[in-house]
Amino acid sequence: MIFTVTLNPAADYTLTIPNFRTGEVNRAQEVRFDPGGKGINVSKALQTLGMSNVAMGLLGGSAGDAIESALKEMGIETDFLRIAGATRTNTKVIDPESGETTDLNTPGPEVTAEELDAFKKKLKSVVHGGDTVIFSGSLPAGVPEDIYRELIHMCRSKAAKTILDTSGAALKAALDAKPYFIKPNTDELRTVVEHDPEVAQEVVRAARVLSLETGAYVLASMGGEGAVLIKGRQALYAKAPEIVVHSTVGAGDAMVAALAAAETSGMEEADLLRFAVAAGSAAAAMPGSSCGDIGDVLNLAERVICAPVLG
Ligand SMILES: Nc1ncnc2c1ncn2[C@@H]1O[C@H](COP(=O)(O)OP(=O)(O)OP(=O)(O)O)[C@@H](O)[C@H]1O
Ligand SMILES: [Mg+2]
Repeated sequence: MIFTVTLNPAADYTLTIPNFRTGEVNRAQEVRFDPGGKGINVSKALQTLGMSNVAMGLLGGSAGDAIESALKEMGIETDFLRIAGATRTNTKVIDPESGETTDLNTPGPEVTAEELDAFKKKLKSVVHGGDTVIFSGSLPAGVPEDIYRELIHMCRSKAAKTILDTSGAALKAALDAKPYFIKPNTDELRTVVEHDPEVAQEVVRAARVLSLETGAYVLASMGGEGAVLIKGRQALYAKAPEIVVHSTVGAGDAMVAALAAAETSGMEEADLLRFAVAAGSAAAAMPGSSCGDIGDVLNLAERVICAPVLG
């Protein structure tokens, strides 16, 4: 089974309000709700690719209820720990007249040590050898920076594969645990290895250092430039296909979902890289955080050229 772990989910509302004014009553022309947070986005992308998976993590309050029922409606299995604090609500107000976007975000919960402990136990009880566990996104208040290290250690002890996609201190602290796969973008890669993000060869060098240090496969994504896949000294580069970009929001999450899907179906490295790049690009070609289905991704993957990087 594939599990996604979202410790800091968000209930995302998008309101379309022409001529939005502060200090006045505004009426929305359109309201959209999306269960959000990076691991949850990976779950949705996996579902769109036709891969069943279980969304796990922490949920609280009415925002938590809304997320859980929306995921269930999409046919995604859920196994969240309920916490006392309220899950974040992020509201985006889009004004089509001015072209402006206003963000209204709630602070999110403070997680207690007991709640975190209960989540660790829950994850330990559901993960088995051969499973893939994806850890994605930021951490809520109260959760120590090295939480992913501890959870990855536990998964490894059960012979489950782990995929890590986070940033900053949480990424740095997790590397010791030797995740199976790491998916940094160029900014995240720079948190752990200095490099010039503008120079592709430098990204390859930094990803190689990270892979040699951790023993992990590193899939370093470079937005519209594509991605490199590194294991030890071996490196493959795939250029992203030319597409009409609609929204790059969630492109990285679609890529992580494709990576997990390719890994579980035993794809060889070059095919896995082409498939993952195609999934990212398919998502970038679609509006909002939507992503491509298996047909879209396989079609696009045929246009992705992949070659070994020498040196
Ligand atoms: N402008 C683009 N054109 C074509 N493909 C793109 C574009 N932007 C992203 N992609 C595809 O999506 C993949 C992941 O994108 P990116 O490197 O931006 O991830 P990320 O920064 O982790 O994104 P996220 O914000 O979702 O976390 C890229 O490797 C590429 O395949
Ligand atoms: Mg990302």
